Amino acid sequence: MKSPADILSRGLAEHLFSAERELIPDIDDYYEMELAFYENQLFDDQELVRNAAYFARVGDSVTRHFQMCAGESLRLPEHSSSRLKSFFEKNIFRTGYATHGLFPYRGKFHPQMVKGILNVMGLKPGDTVVDPMMGSGTVAVEATLMGINSLGFDASPFCRFMAQTKLDALTMPLRRARKAVDNADAVFEYFGKRGSPISGRKPARTAHLHYADEVMEEPAEYLTGGLRPPKGSDRETAETFGFLLLAYLDAAGYSERSTRKTPIDQFRAILDRYVFVADKIQMFLLQDHAALGLARVSQGDARSMPIADASADGILFSPPYSFAIDYLDNDAFHLNYLGVDVEQLQESMVGLRGKSLPEKFEFYQEDMKRVIAECSRVLKRGKFCTIIVGTNNNQIGKILKQSPSEVEGLDEMLVRMGQETGLSLIRTMQRSIIGMSNTMRREQILLLQKK
Ligand SMILES: C[S@@+](CC[C@H](N)C(=O)[O-])C[C@H]1O[C@@H](n2cnc3c(N)ncnc32)[C@H](O)[C@@H]1O
Repeated sequence: MKSPADILSRGLAEHLFSAERELIPDIDDYYEMELAFYENQLFDDQELVRNAAYFARVGDSVTRHFQMCAGESLRLPEHSSSRLKSFFEKNIFRTGYATHGLFPYRGKFHPQMVKGILNVMGLKPGDTVVDPMMGSGTVAVEATLMGINSLGFDASPFCRFMAQTKLDALTMPLRRARKAVDNADAVFEYFGKRGSPISGRKPARTAHLHYADEVMEEPAEYLTGGLRPPKGSDRETAETFGFLLLAYLDAAGYSERSTRKTPIDQFRAILDRYVFVADKIQMFLLQDHAALGLARVSQGDARSMPIADASADGILFSPPYSFAIDYLDNDAFHLNYLGVDVEQLQESMVGLRGKSLPEKFEFYQEDMKRVIAECSRVLKRGKFCTIIVGTNNNQIGKILKQSPSEVEGLDEMLVRMGQETGLSLIRTMQRSIIGMSNTMRREQILLLQKK
């Protein structure tokens, strides 16, 4: 028998990995260690340095993930609580890097986990990954940084806008956005005039906005008028406009939830943070020589995607948790601001069709069946479709008037639907969701392979 001292004198990571391969700090969860283990098995040294999510160093080389995350995570205001500061410090390698933090979209993926999953699905630079329900575009941003091409779809035009803005912010010139930080009042005024006012604030009609016009240029109202750039606008104008507008909508969202700060103060702080994070990742990309992937994000329906059969090297997505989050309700301000017909949109949103809860659940199943069949159609043989889904059998039990232990969980339902369309379950990983207000305590990472 081996002596306990021999075993205990080396940590788990030392048992699992060679001394040359050093893990990222703060790996706390089982699923993270699991993904690190698979990365270690699948990747040679060079691949680890290029794209690993869970390694900090390989021999003398510091990994790209470590480099792009390291340093100050956010420029938090002086008066921020130490709890908030330590939260950001702790999540620097998980969520607090690149442009992922630009908008607090609910139900958003954990970016580092996305990177790990793309790796264990066998995706390589130059391959193409699809996210049929991209939300804020975490997969597209992460794939781009890894040199993987991506196609993202979401029924909501706000999601398309958000995802595009996060992608643009990786490379767009920041000159004018920086200038906007010094003129935040004028920019705030400009957007306030063009949409519903932030609660409690009357839209200003007379203010003369020399500066804002200079930043946005004439008339830059394309987002409210059909989501197309104005004629003659150059790319920098469109990208700057989107960046500032996202910061404005972010501030509007905060102001609806909290009155601790005035909306303009909120906007100033958020814009300052946006410029800081974009600047940080751009500085990294400037000295990094790896090619970025190409991303195309569109408004579209996951139930019928404009993609050829057997063309995707991988699919990664998370379906709407229809019963926990009403995305349209959540984004009401933003959708109204963009001039979207919310009632019409509701008809194409998975999870929101139908009136009563049982009817909604019925439609949800029908729609998800179509989404899974569509995933199977576009995926190449032998490749993976990964679905991340929370379980909430209590809720389903209530809807079906059955005991929670008897109902089929959403994860089981999706695995069954996959099986019916040629996708077989290869592995399930579990992830706990931290957060007191979250009704779902566990998420399943389901890796399905097209046979
Ligand atoms: C859980 S969220 C995805 C979050 C995303 N993984 C992220 O990182 O932000 C699910 C998304 O599905 C979208 N959705 C709902 N019905 C859809 C449909 N028919 N086609 C495409 N997307 C849809 C919702 O708008 C929502 O953004």
